[in-house]
Amino acid sequence: MTFAMCVLRKGWLGLATVATFVALAASAAAAQDDAAVRANHALGRGINLGNALDAPLDATWALHLRSDYFDAIKQAGFNSVRLPVAFYLHTAAEAPYAIDPGFLARVDWAINQALSRGLVVVLDNHHDVGMERRPDDSLPRLVAVWTQLASHYRDYPKSVYFELLNEPSGGLTDAEWAKDAPVLLSAVRNVDAKRTVVIGAAYWNSLDHLGALALPDDDRNIIVTFHYYVPLHFTHQGASWMAGADKWKGTAWTGDSAEQATLDHDFDKAAQWAAANRRPLYLGEFGAFQAADMESRARWTRAVADAALRRGMSFAYWEFGSSFGAYDPTKLQWRAPLLEALVGHGGGDAKP
Ligand code: BGC
Repeated sequence: MTFAMCVLRKGWLGLATVATFVALAASAAAAQDDAAVRANHALGRGINLGNALDAPLDATWALHLRSDYFDAIKQAGFNSVRLPVAFYLHTAAEAPYAIDPGFLARVDWAINQALSRGLVVVLDNHHDVGMERRPDDSLPRLVAVWTQLASHYRDYPKSVYFELLNEPSGGLTDAEWAKDAPVLLSAVRNVDAKRTVVIGAAYWNSLDHLGALALPDDDRNIIVTFHYYVPLHFTHQGASWMAGADKWKGTAWTGDSAEQATLDHDFDKAAQWAAANRRPLYLGEFGAFQAADMESRARWTRAVADAALRRGMSFAYWEFGSSFGAYDPTKLQWRAPLLEALVGHGGGDAKP
């Protein structure tokens, strides 16, 4: 993604009035019975198994999932994993758009590993280049993918949730995604009426675009997700896929009052939307790249995790064992400051 596109992830808002807060608190209370609220509590604190099943099979940078990683995640105290999977790389180009069964077996393996450790799983359809370039032409293929997945996992426990599409972007503008997301949701619902579904806004799951989401009011088993990498110059310093990111190297995050105010401002905005729309929120990605100094990474990670937990949101850190990794797969051990930031403390006043 380009720098200009990424900058769109960040935004500002005006202050809510006291009256708005009162109204929002009332509607939040009304939402407590929703299936999605209970499902979001179960997600709690999670971690992304990124750069694994979302990587091309021949990618040298891919993380090869191992069974002991799931033990490590459970023992560390996480409640859930988000499993990014690039189905678009393993689906036939022509109708009926069959998903490669050999690949699906690998996804099954990872899901079963997580379930057998008592971890909740978010099966995340991670990117779809066709949808980003030509949504109208590509939608039937993605509908077929979700129809197959909904059937394949119909008898799996309810602790497997479906995330329709990671970070809609490109041709998936607010208006386009508002048309397409309900179609994909229906593809799941036609097969499985009870599965928890996770949906985020366009512009890379930006919190600033939550207002453009079009979700059926009577479907109370939807968790809404957003991603948070602010400030980008800090979280993505040195990231090879981001133009100009080398110049950001050395950027620290001290958590001073201005930085903390930005964080609170952004998370208040997301929480206000959630309360007004009676939808629980899942911070599905946040993390700082390995080029940043570890002290700043841990400080930022803890501040963001706390900002989510204090507002009743669940989270998944980006990511487990790759270039943002909280875990070092060469030493088979956690990076202690990051682990502590994620699960080593009370996390503010509330749990999601
Ligand atoms: C992308 C990753 C990237 C991360 C942080 C994810 O959604 O798939 O490739 O490292 O966001 O930018």
